[in-house]
Amino acid sequence: MSRRKKIYEGKAKILYEGPEPGTIVQYFKDDATAFNAQKKDVIEGKGVLNNRLSEYFMTGLNTIGVPTHFIRRLNMREQLVRSCEIIPLEVIVRNFAAGTMAKRLGMEEGTQLPRPIVEYCLKDDKLGDPLVTEEHIAAFGWASQQDMDDILSLALRVNDFMAGVMYGVGIRLVDFKIEIGRVYDGDFQRLVVADEISPDSCRLWDIETGRKLDKDVFRRDLGSLTDAYTEVARRLGLMPKAATAMTKPTLIN
Ligand code: CDP
Repeated sequence: MSRRKKIYEGKAKILYEGPEPGTIVQYFKDDATAFNAQKKDVIEGKGVLNNRLSEYFMTGLNTIGVPTHFIRRLNMREQLVRSCEIIPLEVIVRNFAAGTMAKRLGMEEGTQLPRPIVEYCLKDDKLGDPLVTEEHIAAFGWASQQDMDDILSLALRVNDFMAGVMYGVGIRLVDFKIEIGRVYDGDFQRLVVADEISPDSCRLWDIETGRKLDKDVFRRDLGSLTDAYTEVARRLGLMPKAATAMTKPTLIN
């Protein structure tokens, strides 16, 4: 790792300077955190699974014309991405009530929402990523009105894509979080889906049984997180058929 300059280390990933200007290497760690890092653990194999799953979703988005920062996967734990300025918002899309929204509004988890609901949280760990309104975003200049229109459109397109992909393998997309980056092409700037899309940042429930296949397994101590993520990868055809809970995650290229 000494050959590269570390740019940033977060809770689940490390960013290194990429081989060409304007690129970054995203390294996926095995660290799992929840409740603003109050709960922590190292889950062997999680980084490998998330690197592959995020590659799968980002590649699919690029293919259907939803721009992302993803360029290519480099190895088991690393992917090459375009460097971008991250907009300091967590963009959450919900199809069913769960987590903080269910709590805040006193709704039963799993209640279907009348339409997808998009929420914005300020990316600030010290403040615990507080929910903010478009008024705050405009007044404090975190994003322009044009950015907000583009972000909403990207978020809903990612939602339709992810919900469809998941439905195809018997999984309900309850909610998810994305981050948006600004990239510059000459004089033009545009917004792209950045960071990662993985079971760390989605709620995924088996349609038949309701089994949770996402980070809630870790948050709520519901069993093995690698088993859950491996199941998602297996259903998407990213694992050898024989892979079971007893085998270490081995991914198909
Ligand atoms: O996950 P939690 O209950 O703390 O918050 P939420 O607002 O219910 O999260 C909605 C969705 O966004 C879930 O799929 C979370 O996994 C995801 N999320 C995330 O990936 N990172 C955050 N900092 C907050 C939420």
